[in-house]
Amino acid sequence: MASASFLGLLVLVALASGASAQLSPTFYDTSCPNALSTIRTAVNAAVAQEARMGASLLRLHFHDCFVQGCDASVLLNDTNGEQSAGPNVGSLRGFGVIDNIKAQVEALCPQTVSCADILTVAARDSVVALGGPSWTVLLGRRDSTSSFPNQANTDLPAPQSSLRNLIDAFGNKTLSATDMVALSGAHTIGQAQCTNFRDHITESNINPAFAASLRTSCPATGGDTNLAPLDVTTPNTFDNAYYNNLLSQRGLLHSDQELFNNGSTDSTVRNFASNAAAFSSAFTTAMVKMANIQPLTGTQGQIRRLCWRVNS
Ligand code: HEM
Repeated sequence: MASASFLGLLVLVALASGASAQLSPTFYDTSCPNALSTIRTAVNAAVAQEARMGASLLRLHFHDCFVQGCDASVLLNDTNGEQSAGPNVGSLRGFGVIDNIKAQVEALCPQTVSCADILTVAARDSVVALGGPSWTVLLGRRDSTSSFPNQANTDLPAPQSSLRNLIDAFGNKTLSATDMVALSGAHTIGQAQCTNFRDHITESNINPAFAASLRTSCPATGGDTNLAPLDVTTPNTFDNAYYNNLLSQRGLLHSDQELFNNGSTDSTVRNFASNAAAFSSAFTTAMVKMANIQPLTGTQGQIRRLCWRVNS
């Protein structure tokens, strides 16, 4: 009886640790020992050339993981695939950087390192390259053989989302409200297009001086693709300024300001604004959780030779 309940406990522990139990930080140590340093060098070079690329790679990883898990499905350039879905079309960037890293890694170790792992590591290295915290990435994901445009449309949160929508969208991916607030801190880097923040400029919960400055680049009509930094204070540094911006009603997107708008996440925003270490810790924890969403492992999927298409 005692051993049966012990076995039950073991099964429970195994279930609770989920798919990440099959991922490991040392996955390529023997099969491709230079994979991680190759990815880091290439990300550093890309970010040195254009700081925003770090932001674009981080977003690419988020948009991969929220759609059928972190399986590199977002990298497939199928006609009518994920890349053409509403949240992605005309705004995802960084595919060329990933293709270039993949070519270098393939030259070292053919068909060994997945595109999904390359993207996961590149996201971490991007955060570090822009001055943010580091963390250990678990490895061993495999690549999908198809793209999921419908899920991209339903599962990726829109900038018009309410706090309730945001909490639900992340909850659907087993991420808590605190994880959601921490991950939104990724908006401490990168840019958004006018079409995504135009409506927020005229809302009541935006700082008037900030709104006026945005109007010059984002008029009521036209200029849809004009850019503004998501973090008006330090756009190329991964820090906690994003949360301080929210305290002064200088969130760029409606969805950003929703996190500090007299709701249940106000106290978390205040905490991350005043305590950089608390933000770093919550962000890295949530990034590991996000990277563990539904990975393909073992013999599932494939290791693509080229990240933009399935193996023929
Ligand atoms: C909370 C829900 C979120 C919403 C509604 C949202 C929405 C958006 C939108 C609309 C843009 C601008 C796209 C454009 O105009 O081209 C953007 C950019 C960005 N997002 Fe998010 N996002 C969210 C969460 C996240 C998360 C979880 C991450 C990563 C962990 C992330 C990382 C980024 C980055 C780094 C950029 C800038 C990309 C660049 O400059 O190329 N976002 N996001």
